[in-house]
Amino acid sequence: MSQKKLLVTAALPYANGHIHIGHLVEYIQTDIWVRFQKLRGNRCIFICADDTHGTAIMIRARQEGRSEEELIAEMKDAHEKDFAGFDIAFDHYGSTNSPENYELCKQIWSSLREANLIREDDVEQLFDPVAGTFLADRFVKGTCPNCKATDEYGDNCSKCGATYSPTDLINPVSALSGATPVKKTAKHLFVQLEQLHPFLDQWTQSGEHLQPEVANYLKGHFLGKPLRDWDVSRPAPYFGFAIPDSPGNFWYVWFDAPIGYIASTWQWCKQNNESLDDWWKSPSTQIHHFIGKDIAYFHTLFWPGVLQSSGFSLPSFVHIHGFLTVDKEKMSKSKGTMVRARKYLDHLDPSYLRYYYASKLGPRLDDIDLNITEFAQKIDSDLVGKVVNLASRTARFVETTGLCDVYPEDGGLFAAAQDAGERIAEAYEQGDYSRAMRLIMELADAANGFVENTAPWTLKKDPQQHARLQEVCTIVLNLFRQLCVYLSPVLPRLANQCSTLFQSEIHSWSDAYRPLVGMKLSKFEHLMQRVDLKKVEQMIEESKDTPAAAAAAAPAPASNPAVGSNPASADNAPAAVVDSAEPLTLEPLAPTCSIEDFMKVDLRVARVIKAEEVPEAKKLVKLTVSLGGDVTRTVFAGIKAAYTPAQLEGRLVVIVANLQPRQMKFGLSEGMVTAAGAGGAEVFLLSADSGAKPGHRVH
Ligand code: MSP
Ligand code: ZN
Repeated sequence: MSQKKLLVTAALPYANGHIHIGHLVEYIQTDIWVRFQKLRGNRCIFICADDTHGTAIMIRARQEGRSEEELIAEMKDAHEKDFAGFDIAFDHYGSTNSPENYELCKQIWSSLREANLIREDDVEQLFDPVAGTFLADRFVKGTCPNCKATDEYGDNCSKCGATYSPTDLINPVSALSGATPVKKTAKHLFVQLEQLHPFLDQWTQSGEHLQPEVANYLKGHFLGKPLRDWDVSRPAPYFGFAIPDSPGNFWYVWFDAPIGYIASTWQWCKQNNESLDDWWKSPSTQIHHFIGKDIAYFHTLFWPGVLQSSGFSLPSFVHIHGFLTVDKEKMSKSKGTMVRARKYLDHLDPSYLRYYYASKLGPRLDDIDLNITEFAQKIDSDLVGKVVNLASRTARFVETTGLCDVYPEDGGLFAAAQDAGERIAEAYEQGDYSRAMRLIMELADAANGFVENTAPWTLKKDPQQHARLQEVCTIVLNLFRQLCVYLSPVLPRLANQCSTLFQSEIHSWSDAYRPLVGMKLSKFEHLMQRVDLKKVEQMIEESKDTPAAAAAAAPAPASNPAVGSNPASADNAPAAVVDSAEPLTLEPLAPTCSIEDFMKVDLRVARVIKAEEVPEAKKLVKLTVSLGGDVTRTVFAGIKAAYTPAQLEGRLVVIVANLQPRQMKFGLSEGMVTAAGAGGAEVFLLSADSGAKPGHRVH
């Protein structure tokens, strides 16, 4: 087998949200492929980075009153910890906000200029006069010009499906400030992709670089007509890189994001004394991108076009996967199925999810569905019941004797598993992990059949049979180790435990082809637990967001779009801002009041010290709040549909402290808790930033 040189990337996660179990479909899938390649003896590096630029980060930093740099540093740290928790082992994890990336953007930009691919044009866009920024499509809402549905986004209508530009919306409103946007013209820069049409036809349709359904999709939806120019600039203010030859303009986040693949590789090269050209300009290196279907368009048209025009290598293959659903539905915050990586790790073993995803992933773009019952069953029956059990039923019996000196006659089991090795490897290579897992479990079944037939626990009872017991255990433990080698790309922890048990490192695929004999084993340590369903339930419960918490939480890509969904709408989709900005129809403002009028209302920060159901009342919760010291108040609040008592106890609220007490059916209400929203479940309590103390007056 000749050694290949591979550069593998996973998509660069947006810095504006935390990693969740949907993302992990991709990062686990890619990590498995990389570990497999390394195990096979290939030279392989795994490169990733945070995708840091764009409107969403800028707005969020503004809202949080800190710099973008501080925000992205914090997110990168969180991302790296989450990935490490799932044993996702990058060779380098960089950031698109790096000097290397800026340098490469400039280089690539001059190549595009030299190739006469850039043109300038005026673009009329909506501008938020209050926030002082142009509004990406998803930051504008209004009435659909086609069917007149209200509260629709600026790019397309969810009711009638019409697509339009945000300037076409009737009564547009800015999602940032609620202000009415104004039309403003600015100069934008475009890549004239159509000039690369012949190249893209050939590259996408060669049958070598894309899954067939992707190639067909591109042919049917984009390549049959002239390619639209790609708008790669955004006017200030924008968090990104300034375009050197176009003052006041910045590269659009999707221009510099994929260049981040090269920049992050460059950083790795600097740390490892390697040459960037060997990885990005050499025909002997294969580049493999792993991405989700929502960003296919960028990676299969724009990106190859950019690479081709600037003298970098093209990807050998773009591996595109489907989306995660939970019980056949989109992940949902209210159902608690949008589980963050961190939350998962607080409750469950990462190996479970790695194995479960592996058992579901194929080479195609189908969505993959997480079903909790199946999840638990697979782990319990495959990993605990079939694999780990082989060791736990035998290892202790050879603690003193060790393994036989010669591998005993096993009826062809070891040889059969060795034979299966290349078929399993082929399945991994093709990204058909579910087939690989099936083949491995067939081997595990055969090994378990042998255990049942030889019944080592019975042999143990008869001293006459102890020589046979050692043989049986030598066989079973070697079969176990073979499985661990084959599973090691998916379950690196299990492979490590196996290495420890045998005091012999698993470092190559061919470790499955040689039985170990004549050696002592380490003391057997417990390998893996069954899934504790209570912990799963708790994880889901804790992932449920109240409407209020959801509005404040960091975003996650909300949609489950088709391959190559309209790139115009993918403007670093600022889900958080968009979510928290609904609904957008502005209620008429009350008549002007003086500051004196306002000061009559004594608003105070208060802490909820007790929250109780009022069973007879449909809407009310009874709150005891503290105003500091021992001053407390009882307040009845109509927030039952939106909050449970448990969610309320301990939190800060803002109350009207000098409201005339009111006798209610259930008791005296001595104030009012402030909240926003339409009522019912749509109620959002006001709260104070951390640092505020009960009793503080609100001015
Ligand atoms: N920042 C861009 C990628 C730039 S690459 C130069 C981006 N980031 S993302 O954080 O939204 O998504 C990162 C990857 O995770 C993407 O490939 C995306 O398809 C994938 N997934 C995000 N949610 C997912 C699911 N629910 N299911 C499966 N994959 C998902 O896109
Ligand atoms: Zn419509």
